[in-house]
Amino acid sequence: MPGDKSISHRAAIISALAAEGGRSRLTNYSTSADCASTLACLSALGVTVERDGTNVEIEGRGTRWTPRAGEPSAPLDCGNSGTTMRLLAGLLAGQPFTSTLTGDASLRSRPMKRIIEPLELMGARVSSEAGRAPLRIEGHATLASIRYALPVASAQVKSCLLLAGLNAVGRSEIIEARGATRDHTERLLSLFGARVQTEMKTYEGCTVPHVSLQTPANLTAHDCRIACDISSAAFFMAAAALLPGSELTLPGVGLNPSRTEILHTLQRLGARVSVADERAESGEVVGELRVRGGLTPQTAAATATGANVLRGELIAGLIDELPILSVVGTQIEGGLEIRDASELRVKETDRIGAMVKNLRALGAEVEEYEDGMRIEGRANLRGARLESFGDHRIAMACAVAALICEGESELVGADSVAISFPEFFEMLESVTER
Ligand code: S3P
Repeated sequence: MPGDKSISHRAAIISALAAEGGRSRLTNYSTSADCASTLACLSALGVTVERDGTNVEIEGRGTRWTPRAGEPSAPLDCGNSGTTMRLLAGLLAGQPFTSTLTGDASLRSRPMKRIIEPLELMGARVSSEAGRAPLRIEGHATLASIRYALPVASAQVKSCLLLAGLNAVGRSEIIEARGATRDHTERLLSLFGARVQTEMKTYEGCTVPHVSLQTPANLTAHDCRIACDISSAAFFMAAAALLPGSELTLPGVGLNPSRTEILHTLQRLGARVSVADERAESGEVVGELRVRGGLTPQTAAATATGANVLRGELIAGLIDELPILSVVGTQIEGGLEIRDASELRVKETDRIGAMVKNLRALGAEVEEYEDGMRIEGRANLRGARLESFGDHRIAMACAVAALICEGESELVGADSVAISFPEFFEMLESVTER
């Protein structure tokens, strides 16, 4: 599997913030178009970036950047990547110059108020098109620190504020009031020497993570090997589980506990997934995933405890895996219900609407809700014309669905897989038999 997309973005950005002149060598850097957008923006901002395939070397400029003549000269193009835009917004809020972040039509339609409001509370000025990109960021070299409860469960917003917090005075505290999200930023900041701490504390009656960052932050360059992407692996795990007789081994996959809910969910739904050779690497946990084909019938106990309903605090840990889980849902006894997932409507496309349309085209029975869907199980799917809506995860979920259909399917917009996983089709062909 390619290097993890979330970790690659963060490793690149944090390397650029390491002490002036320190070089970080990143290996197994994501091959995704999104992570290439992050490197292109950093280069446009004057950071020295050298790339040779999946090896990337980045020279630090410290956390406070003195503007170099004429930079940044043009709007920074984040392409399709929400992570690039939201994380860079945090970095740029604390710089003594003005910059503009823009992206493709999908990214320019996505909600940015969630970062604009807290960044303005910290002292930056951000103008937007009614809460959407392009974002013009007038940075402020010394931001005010904030204690801020996130109104949505979002690792991108949390990370944006932590990066801004590097240039804030004193201690910033981000409260994950809507539940825990992936913690790669915290781990990498620690690895590079920042003082970051996560404590479970009560907020409005619930025990939730409180992440704090203390300045001054002196980051030191660090070499990192990036774990393989468990969210990319999810499509292969699902394909192997859905095709009886499969045996699949995926080495070196990131097993950070904030990302492994997909393993537990697949297991609860009857997939035979196991983990071997777990070890620590560059501040993360990695290991080998093994999948054996065929879903085992769920036990009555699993059904009674609601294994077929994904909702509440499970959702943040599964957010990128819900499209492929909806495909798995068509094959399990009792089907699958997904709720509390309205965030899916503001991803690269409306992922609820997109999966409902595609699954129905294949003959599945699906009910659509504002915050999710209910999929009837044990469906006999028939090949159909499917549509990615320009969204990489919809394209990959549809490709896996097509593998379990009777007859042929056509996928419109299949090239969108390059956003996270350019090798997807080649790799899928290499492990499937006709
Ligand atoms: C990501 C966080 C999630 C996820 C996205 C990557 C990250 O988005 O859907 O693919 O790297 O922080 P949100 O923070 O918007 O939930």
